[in-house]
Amino acid sequence: MIQQSSRAIGIIGPGRAGVGLALALAQAGYSVFIHGRKKKHVPAPLKLTVGDGGTPPPWIGDTDVVILTVRDDAITPLAESLAQARAIAERHVVLHLSGSQGQEALGPLVTSRAALGSLHPLQTIVEPELAPARLQGAWAAVEGMPRAVAAGERIAQELGMRPFRIATKAKPIYHAGAVFASNYLVVVEAVAQRLLRHAGLSDADAWAALRPLVEGTFENLTRHEPREALTGPVVRGDTATIVRHLQSLAVDDAKLYRALGRAALELTQKQGMDVKTAETVADALATDLPPVLRKSGQVGP
Ligand SMILES: NC(=O)c1ccc[n+]([C@@H]2O[C@H](COP(=O)([O-])OP(=O)(O)OC[C@H]3O[C@@H](n4cnc5c(N)ncnc54)[C@H](OP(=O)(O)O)[C@@H]3O)[C@@H](O)[C@H]2O)c1
Repeated sequence: MIQQSSRAIGIIGPGRAGVGLALALAQAGYSVFIHGRKKKHVPAPLKLTVGDGGTPPPWIGDTDVVILTVRDDAITPLAESLAQARAIAERHVVLHLSGSQGQEALGPLVTSRAALGSLHPLQTIVEPELAPARLQGAWAAVEGMPRAVAAGERIAQELGMRPFRIATKAKPIYHAGAVFASNYLVVVEAVAQRLLRHAGLSDADAWAALRPLVEGTFENLTRHEPREALTGPVVRGDTATIVRHLQSLAVDDAKLYRALGRAALELTQKQGMDVKTAETVADALATDLPPVLRKSGQVGP
């Protein structure tokens, strides 16, 4: 018999985030149930229940909070199958973890009168075993119906996260920001590694050579906001260097360099670069001058 408790939380989707969150909840003293479609190993003390996608987990009636930790595109179909099985009742809080969607992803469950919402840890989870420590100090975007928001905030706080509320319609742009901060940062490092390989270094040496630079950059970012931590040819107005870079790059890399260079120019203008220098840099990047909000609130130049 499954023990019922207000501190019982059920998780559906035993992937990286689901298992990581389940471990963190278990360490915080929750009774955690976790359910998947296939048998797989989950770390102790978790015990996985398994059933086909159309059948609700056996413990669904023994929890008040259910968190759907499937990939973003599977949230609504899973909500639909839970609705069809009448598995969710009014007393339930149902949350999902997607960064880009809100309570609308749980639309099929509206008629259950359960409280619907989302809890998005602003953290990257690759190895679930590291999640309990990684979630400590991470911010978490909470959105949804009032009872869902209250539950999401309580859970986030108990895991050492810092919850903050976000409007449903703001989730896509918020999550695009998170993708830049994490995923595309990794992509940019991979591009840098490839360019050093073209310069004659092995893959391994290229990354070994770049790592201290990356770590130094991160160190700067821990002490300063991005606009203060930016260095390089755009900030210096070194247009000949920019032109040399662009001449050395293949078409796709040059496009990326120009797009990021334009964003760097915008940042630099906000830090006070004069319009004449900014125009020369824009010419070197073969881009137009970004519109910049001046301190006066006017768009310049
Ligand atoms: N990982 C992160 O860093 C992170 C951070 C913040 C938020 N999130 C969010 O967390 C959610 C999950 O992401 P993830 O990275 O953990 O993805 P993932 O590793 O691909 O895990 C998804 C899991 O859900 C299972 N699943 C899919 N459909 C299911 C169903 N109908 N019933 C039961 N299990 C089902 C999958 O198993 P099978 O398909 O093998 O059955 C898989 O184990 C996403 O909404 C994501 O945006 C992730």
